[in-house]
Amino acid sequence: MPNPTTLVIFGASGDLTSRKLIPALYNNFRKGRLPEGFRIVGAARRDYTNAQFRALMQKAVREHASSYSAKTWAEFAPMLTWQQVDLSRQAHFVRLESALTAIENGAADRIYYLATAPEFYCSTAYHLAQAGSADQARGSRRLVIEKPFGTDGASARALNEELHESWPESQLYRIDHYLGKETAQNILYLRFANAIFEPLWNRNYISNVQVTVAETVDVQQRAEFYDEVGVVRDMFQNHILQLVALVAMEPSASLRADAIRDEKVKVLAAARPVLPADAVRAQYDGYRLTEGVGLRSKTPTFAAMTLFIDNWRWEGVPFYLRSGKALAARKSEIMIEFKPPPHSAFNPRSTPSVANVLSLGIQPDEGMHVTFQAKIPDSRAMHPVDLEFHYRDAFPGIALPEAYERLLLDAITGDASLFARADEIDKAWALLDPLLQSWDGRGGSRMQTYARGSTGPAEADALLARACHTWIDGHTLS
Ligand code: BG6
Repeated sequence: MPNPTTLVIFGASGDLTSRKLIPALYNNFRKGRLPEGFRIVGAARRDYTNAQFRALMQKAVREHASSYSAKTWAEFAPMLTWQQVDLSRQAHFVRLESALTAIENGAADRIYYLATAPEFYCSTAYHLAQAGSADQARGSRRLVIEKPFGTDGASARALNEELHESWPESQLYRIDHYLGKETAQNILYLRFANAIFEPLWNRNYISNVQVTVAETVDVQQRAEFYDEVGVVRDMFQNHILQLVALVAMEPSASLRADAIRDEKVKVLAAARPVLPADAVRAQYDGYRLTEGVGLRSKTPTFAAMTLFIDNWRWEGVPFYLRSGKALAARKSEIMIEFKPPPHSAFNPRSTPSVANVLSLGIQPDEGMHVTFQAKIPDSRAMHPVDLEFHYRDAFPGIALPEAYERLLLDAITGDASLFARADEIDKAWALLDPLLQSWDGRGGSRMQTYARGSTGPAEADALLARACHTWIDGHTLS
């Protein structure tokens, strides 16, 4: 019999808990995925009763879960309890440990989820360990943390060193919610469960790779936070480089968490730090007038950059990466543009050359497209056509789960393959640190502006034009 499991959420009165964590847990419960004897303990400074906490979470589930029924809620609600914890007080952690030991009444696995502001990560980890809550004698003890993992390589290393004083790496689970997306997980299935793609997946056949994570939303209510962070720290260091690692890594011999993560680290280690000359930064019109943003803010809300991976497979293949807020469309997509055929016997006037493109739709066009040339019937000319796969058509009736559903289940079962290891974080920062230093200081390219609802600044197009490439806007952005 597996141990019962207790999930303790610190910062449980916050947004992440109500928008993502509890709805995801509820969805998992509805699908019968939570283990027997599962408990959720909300912890924060507020002095809620269990009933108050449950009422708030019921509202959250109604608003954010994929479906809601009063009957399922009535079965789920008793799992939720509240513990008041002031994160600055060791005595509260001692009290929490006794309360957990009492309710568990024997062996139990535990997950501590830090849904708090990052400045509390180290102290909470420390207080937990001091209270004996990291000790694995009576079951596993895992600590889940959310990004940001530092603001640069040095601060991330300092954070990891401090966490490692009381929590070994094997007990740490760093969430990158992009890895929980079905379509991101599918990259490894596409590449390594099929024989037809991998032989072409290299510098001999691929001209360039484009990763776009475009958002239509602006900084919304997060201006103050965002202005400290900017798009590179918010999106590139984590989500985008994780996608790059999945596209570029070598096949791992097994699906063990460390086997996969070793390959990701190797490919990130082979990449060259991005040069300021190979990157563009921009702000959307009006960003500096947002409440909470400095009038002279140098924080980019859009960036585009070229990354090179210096290894046998990828030498010379540019990886063009871009992300921004307030753009024309919400689209996360990976485009793999192939080289043209070595020789064409077709008349170039009737057959404009269009490269083969494999596009992996991460969201919202979840699926895959292959663009290739076909003969136009009753003519000698040809035209690019599209071979498509969409989850909604191939798997009707199976809704794509929220990323947090998968990640929470994996944290519960102790599968760390979709969580970022300390060395991945370190390598990712190493690729961006020189650029950030240059942008945070006086150097680097000029800050550009772009209109809200546009595809970003023209300079991002110019970046690719240098190598005679263009952004393939595929099926949604333009
Ligand atoms: C978060 C960023 O990590 O990812 C946000 O902090 C961003 O700024 C969000 O909006 C995007 O996630 P998704 O799943 O909506 O693409």
